[in-house]
Parts: sequence; structure tokens; C-alpha cells
Amino acid sequence: MSAERGTAVSREQDQAFIKTFIGVIGILVAITIVLIIIANFTTEGVDQEYGQLQAERTTKRLQPIGQVRVTGEAMPEIAQPQQQKQSKPRSGKEVVQAICSGCHTTNFQNAPQIGDTKAWSERASKGLDTLEKHASQGFGNMPAQGGSASDKEIREAIIYMAKQSDVDVGK
Ligand code: HEC
Repeated sequence: MSAERGTAVSREQDQAFIKTFIGVIGILVAITIVLIIIANFTTEGVDQEYGQLQAERTTKRLQPIGQVRVTGEAMPEIAQPQQQKQSKPRSGKEVVQAICSGCHTTNFQNAPQIGDTKAWSERASKGLDTLEKHASQGFGNMPAQGGSASDKEIREAIIYMAKQSDVDVGK
């Protein structure tokens, strides 16, 4: 009798335990699924970018070290000197806007200011050839401009700045 009761109790206990156990496992599985979904969601972009990067790197690594250029084929961008890339020389105005205006729209370090007739006529008296050489190679407080513009462009820029200051430096 008592043994029978004991078995019944332990069976009940077993069932309760199994229920709890299944419940806990269920919750753990649910949490795992949620975590997997969250992980997928948050790393989706990263994975894609990484994959792209990997693909790019692989293609680069697989490229031969040297390449033969067939006659007439365009030179690779990196091998073209700055001057050749520009098909036609920039106008005086363009050069002034791009390069010279940084210093010449003000009296910066005694630069002849655009519009300052007196300053420009003093400089103009040296002659355009001298001014061109000075601007190209550097003069006094002005660093050489030859690296950023061709001599022709610098000449045009000087003519433009002088003209804006009502000074004729010739051509
Ligand atoms: C970093 C500032 C700066 C830039 C950029 C600059 N200049 Fe000058 N420039 C000066 C200064 C400063 C002087 C005065 C130099 C002196 O007399 O010591 C000067 C003087 C000159 C003179 C007179 C030179 C002489 O013999 O008296 C000319 C011409 C001139 N610049 C042209 C140009 C042109 C053209 C450009 C653009 C391509 C240019 N500069 C860009 C600062 C600059």
C-alpha cells in the first residue's frame, strides 16, 4: 500500500519535473532562435560589405604584376603626367580663381591685391616676362606656382589680375 503510494507520488514528481524540464528547454530554444534572428539582422550589412571587400581583394591579388599595353590604348590614369591630363590650358580667370586668389584677393604677405592699381602698376613695370618667371619659380614671400599651373597659364593669370586692377602688363 505504502509502496504503491510511494510510486504514485514519485510518478507525479517525475511528471512535474519533466514538465518543468520541457518548459525550460522550450524557453532556451526560443531565446536561441531570437538571438539568431537578432544576430542575422544586425550583421547583415557587415557580412555583405565584408564579402565585397574580400572579393575585391581576391581579384586584385589574382591580377598579374605587369600588364602589356596595346599600342593606342589609353595610358593608365596614374601614369599620366598632370599637364597631359588637361586637354587645354585653363584661362587666366580660371587659374586665378583656382590658385592665385587665395593670396591675391587680399594683401596677404604684401601680395599685390587684385584691384589695387598702384600695387599692380609697380609690379608691371618689371615686365610681364619677369613677372611670369617670378610667379612660376617663386619670388619673395610668394612660393613657386609652377607646380600648379603651366607657364602659359600663369602668364594669362597675371594678365587677368592686372587687367582687373586696370593695369596693362602687355601680352
Ligand atoms: C601663397 C600665396 C600666393 C599664391 C597662391 C600666389 N601668390 Fe603671387 N604673390 C604672393 C605674394 C606674397 C607676393 C609678393 C611677393 C613679394 O613681393 O615678396 C606675390 C607676388 C606676385 C607677383 C609679383 C611678382 C613680382 O615680381 O613682383 C605676381 C606677378 C604674382 N604674385 C602672380 C601670381 C599668380 C599668377 C598666382 C597664381 C598662379 C599667384 N601669384 C599665386 C603670394 C601668392
